[in-house]
Amino acid sequence: MSFEITRRDALVASAAAPLAAVAARAQTSPASTAEPGTIDITLQVNGTAHALRVDVRTSLLDALREHAGLTGSKKGCDMGSCGACTVHLEGERVVSCLILAARVQGRQITTIEGLGHDTAMHPMQAAFVEHDAMQCGYCTPGQIMSATALIHEGHARSDHDIREWMSGNLCRCGAYPNIVAAIRDMAEVG
Ligand code: FES
Ligand code: FES
Repeated sequence: MSFEITRRDALVASAAAPLAAVAARAQTSPASTAEPGTIDITLQVNGTAHALRVDVRTSLLDALREHAGLTGSKKGCDMGSCGACTVHLEGERVVSCLILAARVQGRQITTIEGLGHDTAMHPMQAAFVEHDAMQCGYCTPGQIMSATALIHEGHARSDHDIREWMSGNLCRCGAYPNIVAAIRDMAEVG
């Protein structure tokens, strides 16, 4: 009999621990009337409180898209590899498909809908339009959320920097040169 712990075992264990903690809270909360396996949560998104009942395993991305009706954040891979689901959590960029919604209650979440809209665009959105930094547009919300964070992080000092620090955001259409140009413009503006 082998007792070797595989990498997969370790990953499953590390993923199960936070789920178990959330599930325990869901079952012991005296105020909750949620069905077993579900939890009532309130997410602070773009300055608005969203009261949601979700499965304890619901990712922040699914909570935003399927429960809060905020479909700007896109689901590409659902495994942290493409960046399409990037949002800001307390001002820092995160991939929302890898975060449990129940674990970010009370924290400030910003999605592409909170950054700007077609009649009042955020300067980074305007730069993407000006540089034609998109084709199908599917990756664009995540690109823009990463790009705005990148400027604040101070990681846009050169085109090499921009490519390096935007490497977690994939674009199947290959709009990379125009994306870099848009970010470079914004970095120069400061
Ligand atoms: Fe989250 Fe791809 S959908 S990183
Ligand atoms: Fe199509 Fe990036 S514009 S995936």
